[in-house]
Amino acid sequence: MNSVFVVLSVLFLSTSWSLRTDNQFWKDLAKKELEEALHTKWNLNAAKNVIIFVGDGMGPNTVTATRMYMGGESHRLSYEQFPHMGLLKTYSADKMVPDSACSATALFSGVKINKDTIGVDASVKRGDCERSLLPETRLKSLAAEAIDAGKSAGFVTTMRVTHATPGPLYAHSADRLWECDAFMPAGTENCKDIARQLVEDEPGRNFNVILGGGRNGFIPSEAVNAWACARNDSRNLIEDYEKDKKERGLKYRIVSNKTELGNFDPDNTDYLLGIFADGHLSYEYQRNQTDIPSLSEMVAAAIKVLQKNDNGFFLMVEGGNIDMAHHRGWAKVAIDESAAMEEAVKVALAMIDEKNTLFIVTSDHTHTLSINGYPKRGSNIFGIAEASSYDGINYTTLSYSTGGPDSFHFYVHTDENNETTVRRRDPSTEDTDHMLYNQIAGIKLIENSHGGGDVTIYAKGPHAHLFHNVHEQHYVYHAVMYAMTYSNGCAQFASVTMLTVIFLINVILTF
Ligand SMILES: *[C@@H]1O[C@H](CO)[C@@H](O)[C@H](O)[C@H]1NC(C)=O
Ligand SMILES: *[C@@H]1O[C@H](CO)[C@@H](O)[C@H](O)[C@H]1NC(C)=O
Ligand SMILES: *[C@@H]1O[C@H](CO)[C@@H](O)[C@H](O)[C@H]1NC(C)=O
Ligand SMILES: *[C@@H]1O[C@H](CO)[C@@H](O)[C@H](O)[C@H]1NC(C)=O
Ligand SMILES: *[C@@H]1O[C@H](CO)[C@@H](O)[C@H](O)[C@H]1NC(C)=O
Ligand SMILES: [Zn+2]
Repeated sequence: MNSVFVVLSVLFLSTSWSLRTDNQFWKDLAKKELEEALHTKWNLNAAKNVIIFVGDGMGPNTVTATRMYMGGESHRLSYEQFPHMGLLKTYSADKMVPDSACSATALFSGVKINKDTIGVDASVKRGDCERSLLPETRLKSLAAEAIDAGKSAGFVTTMRVTHATPGPLYAHSADRLWECDAFMPAGTENCKDIARQLVEDEPGRNFNVILGGGRNGFIPSEAVNAWACARNDSRNLIEDYEKDKKERGLKYRIVSNKTELGNFDPDNTDYLLGIFADGHLSYEYQRNQTDIPSLSEMVAAAIKVLQKNDNGFFLMVEGGNIDMAHHRGWAKVAIDESAAMEEAVKVALAMIDEKNTLFIVTSDHTHTLSINGYPKRGSNIFGIAEASSYDGINYTTLSYSTGGPDSFHFYVHTDENNETTVRRRDPSTEDTDHMLYNQIAGIKLIENSHGGGDVTIYAKGPHAHLFHNVHEQHYVYHAVMYAMTYSNGCAQFASVTMLTVIFLINVILTF
């Protein structure tokens, strides 16, 4: 009886707490934030390790909705408690609104380039294979820089490992679609598909961790769908990967499912390749029906391998299904994926030393998700906001300004006088809380488009304070490079000073 009472009061307190409106509640919230602000210190250490999480398509509204979904309006996601943050302007060299290929290149290689190209500068137009071969057009990524500095490097993604966000870490391609040979058009014979670049070229062949999907780009196969990839040249790049590591006498491990990833021995693995699906990895909410590891499990495995290097490491983690779900107009799936990425952030935070690890959470671009007025505080974020005073029909809290046919909720109504009017479907007759509910969209396209708003960058650890206002997206590369190399300059300076002091002492002692 007592325990039931305790449980009930805890439930009551925990739900009522977030809906409190008394002055003390607001003052306590603000005091906690002020304490944090007053105790924020610059960490001037070297960034021995760098971890960058990219929530693909995770614009500020997606983060806000994730926060509401996880714990209500006053909740704070783990990365929302990082001491430093800024905004990134995501436009590309040629477009006001970017795709993931050019925006990831900006983040990781430090210049803005053309939409749909990967790791080549803005002088390379989409599809210009020949120009992309010129060394001076090819950009060097943070992963390549880390390897050159003696660090380990790798990435984890829920997408194909050859997809637009991880691609710029290792590939140079005039078209993001050239992930596999079957997708290389006539006239591009001199160019190498992205999968081959990962396995055969620098820096990809030296990556210590490669975890994600996209098996069909690596082994003889047919495309699973029009968006997927296929290998038509009868090569098996997974065997090639193995051959390369064997020839170089490296300790490697190749895994293909959750069980194998759970059993691998990090002490005996310096190179880990895990490809867990033919195409992209499944959405988190459907993953339990598969033998695919979670993003958190992949991140934990990656850090175990990478942190063995005394010189440090670079890790990129992509929550790619946030973007996939937004493109389909499934806000709940997108936000559920964003929550899964936050879980992986927490897993990573628990494994690293914040004194020497620059930890960044950001996004490559937004989507056109909006949060409409004026649902009651504490409402289900996937529910109804209220009824329009114009047509009397309810509308949902979340909507998109662009969408595919399934997101287009308007229909033509013809009355008894043959007069036609365009009407909006009534969401209160639909299950808006269903995973695959398509929120209403205003402009009908083939699929939801990206948005052009700024994305947020949250940072913690060495030189995290370099993110402090409205930045260009490609500034991220330069700030991370500064943080990564700062120690060297500083250590050199220190050792020069030290040598001078020792020399002077010697001089004094001699005389
Ligand atoms: C696949 O290879 C066959 C045989 O070389 C060729 O005829 C076909 O055009 C190729 N298909 C694609 C999509 O590249
Ligand atoms: C995992 O992959 C290994 C190697 O392909 C295979 O032998 C094993 O049956 C797989 N496990 C499951 C549960 O699918
Ligand atoms: C997967 O999770 C869903 C939702 O939690 C549940 O309904 C379903 O039974 C689970 N499936 C399996 C195979 O565990
Ligand atoms: C409405 O249109 C139909 C078909 O075009 C026509 O048969 C009908 O008479 C019209 N009704 C009125 C009220 O105009
Ligand atoms: C709007 O939705 C609410 C909650 O689902 C419902 O109670 C109300 O009747 C709906 N109002 C209209 C005008 O459809
Ligand atoms: Zn996208």
